[in-house]
Amino acid sequence: MSEHFYVSTPIYYVNGAPHIGHAYTTIVADALARYHRLRGNEVFFLTGTDEHGLKVQRSAEAQNISPKALADENSAKFRTLFDRLSLSYDRFIRTTEDEHKQVVLAVLERMIANDDVYLGKYEGWYSASDEAFYAEDEIEDGKAKASGSAVEWVVEESYFFRLGKYQQPLLDWYRQNPDCIKPQGRYNEVVSFVEGGLEDLSISRTTFDWGIPWPKDPKHVLYVWVDALTNYISALGGFEGSSAYDHFWPCNIHLIGKDILRFHAVYWPAFLLSAKLEPPRCVFAHGWWLNRGEKMSKSKGNFIDAQELVESYDLDVLRYYMLREVPLGNDGNFAQERLIERNNAELADNYGNLVNRTIAMLGRFGQGKAPAATTGQEHEEDQALVEKALEAVSVVDEHIKQYELHRALEVIFQLSSELNLYLQRTQPWKLAKDADQAERLGQVLYNTLEGIRIVTLLLAAFIPDAALKVLTSLNAQDHSLASLSWGGLQPGVEIVAPAVLFNKLELPKEEPKQEEPAPKAKAEKKSKTKEEAPVEQIEFTDFQKVELRVGLIVSAERVEGSSKLLKLQIDVGEERPRTVVSGIAKSFAPEDLTGNRYAVVTNLKPAKLFGILSEAMVLAADKPDGTLELARFSDAIAPGTRLS
Ligand code: MSP
Repeated sequence: MSEHFYVSTPIYYVNGAPHIGHAYTTIVADALARYHRLRGNEVFFLTGTDEHGLKVQRSAEAQNISPKALADENSAKFRTLFDRLSLSYDRFIRTTEDEHKQVVLAVLERMIANDDVYLGKYEGWYSASDEAFYAEDEIEDGKAKASGSAVEWVVEESYFFRLGKYQQPLLDWYRQNPDCIKPQGRYNEVVSFVEGGLEDLSISRTTFDWGIPWPKDPKHVLYVWVDALTNYISALGGFEGSSAYDHFWPCNIHLIGKDILRFHAVYWPAFLLSAKLEPPRCVFAHGWWLNRGEKMSKSKGNFIDAQELVESYDLDVLRYYMLREVPLGNDGNFAQERLIERNNAELADNYGNLVNRTIAMLGRFGQGKAPAATTGQEHEEDQALVEKALEAVSVVDEHIKQYELHRALEVIFQLSSELNLYLQRTQPWKLAKDADQAERLGQVLYNTLEGIRIVTLLLAAFIPDAALKVLTSLNAQDHSLASLSWGGLQPGVEIVAPAVLFNKLELPKEEPKQEEPAPKAKAEKKSKTKEEAPVEQIEFTDFQKVELRVGLIVSAERVEGSSKLLKLQIDVGEERPRTVVSGIAKSFAPEDLTGNRYAVVTNLKPAKLFGILSEAMVLAADKPDGTLELARFSDAIAPGTRLS
């Protein structure tokens, strides 16, 4: 049954240009929106710009233009960026729109009617850049502790909202709705903040005028957060008589950064309770992207500009990296090396290569048409594949419902790896040589293509451009996840190779080479081992992903030009020995190793070291004297034996 799914991003201040944080939240929202559309749900995806307030007024003054002109200019930058990122928002709201202002006043009217607003005097510390007041204990050296922004002492007549009255109703709401604030740590944080007591909140200003005038008292303008938060309802065309409101409210998820949690998880539900409207279903606070481990800020000038990101990377790669690298809710360090690694190993090698080689084989052995859909389920490996694919579909759905996007992607890529393994096991290139195996060849190719179709549909919300290319090339008309089952690929349809999916990227030249670390990196490596940084516990299935085998060293020689590296030929029980480049030359002479058996990791992605492709890794441990010892086996163990 189709459900409604409403996802919002914060509306962004127009006093500056979009940066990585803005792009990130909106990309996460976009992936969720796309996923729900593919599930057949009715989606409302809202984003936009927050255009009133002292911060914007001051920026405009500094540039000698009107606040509206600044808002027009910068709001357009956000919109252009989001369009350039192909973000599929349904509505881009601007708080300077008339319709929005009317709804804000209607909500305020209901708060007033509920006797929750009174005129008083405000004295306190105010940060214009955060548009927030701070208590004495939240200030240090003239700055707000939380944000580091400068504060100033302000005394003014102000309208107040009786926030204190909502302490208990809010606590009740949190308790009755344990999923209303996520992740759990943020929920706990908010509950304990509210348990500590709530002071009434100043909700008007008289010291500037760039805002919505207070009804019948226009020397006041409405506090920008009352104005801004209400966008989530005004974007639906209001609450009374709005069918969009009836349809979509309460919002399923307000996606926000952790710095604006209090506004969304305390003030906003309190305003809504006061106006007798339902609070949102979930406020999800994500973490920050850091630049080389540091918080980005205007004063440090280290913001990663969103426009630059868009110009530097393929959109799908950027989306994939951001969504896969950091669990939603955690901080993340933007590292180009990691983006490149993920692009090369996961997008290009795992998924892209699977698609390309399967379609190439179909061209060679199957006349470019999807084979007849004989399921081949009498074969154990086929049945296992079908089960894994269908299980992935439901596990991905579960992860997305929990907003664990990185886990959803992990599961999808595991399925892609399974398909690669399936090809390795069934070896269609060998089947093609034997006319008696024609039927089996058809089954194997059909199953692989069908698996690719499922992986691709699951990926469509995350990497929409590449997914569309693959679905088009598979001639897959139905892009819905709702009716996804095994066997959807039409037998006999023509299948053409897609345009290039992912190009391999290279690390920037100045990066030190992995095998010959620069002195500084070497020092860091040493101290890390000493400190024994705590290692996360893993599931057994994670461990199973590492393929450890006994390898017999058939030959060993020095790598010319390197004092550290040996080039080894290692028999791991396959047709031919693997070439392995290993940084052990300072501990072993080549002749020490030949004929011995050691533990080898055999499913690492091949990597080029000193121009030689290394296809496995020998396991070694540091000895106290700085040399290495290898994990060795006796001759009783056959090369290729798996370690478990
Ligand atoms: N206008 C308010 C939101 C009003 S919502 C009713 C606002 N705007 S903002 O432009 O300053 O920030 C928008 C979002 O960007 C916030 O969610 C904030 O957490 C997020 N980010 C700012 N820096 C960030 C990173 N470095 N990384 C990730 N997100 C970050 O606040």
